[in-house]
Amino acid sequence: MPQITVVNHEGEETSVDAADGRTLMEVIRDSGFDELLALCGGCCSCATCHVHIDAAYSDKLPPMSEDENDLLDSSEHRNELSRLSCQIPVTGELEGCKVTIAQED
Ligand code: FES
Repeated sequence: MPQITVVNHEGEETSVDAADGRTLMEVIRDSGFDELLALCGGCCSCATCHVHIDAAYSDKLPPMSEDENDLLDSSEHRNELSRLSCQIPVTGELEGCKVTIAQED
């Protein structure tokens, strides 16, 4: 089971176990980070699961869909590391990855 590091709005880092077969959103939300609202429950329609993912892992992530891209465009905090965490399945390749919860819009 990969371990990832979650960075909250205060910049505090916490290591969490990420079970294969879940999404990053589920892992972060279920680890008690209430900053990640994930209001739509993972159907790619709210953008409240916005995170910034370590650049070193960019090529290990699935390609971004048009819907995800459009939703991220609505965020003032979008940058080149932005993804919607509900669209990222956990795999062993994410071992050691650092995921920062984006500031709320
Ligand atoms: S939880 Fe709504 S877009 Fe990810």
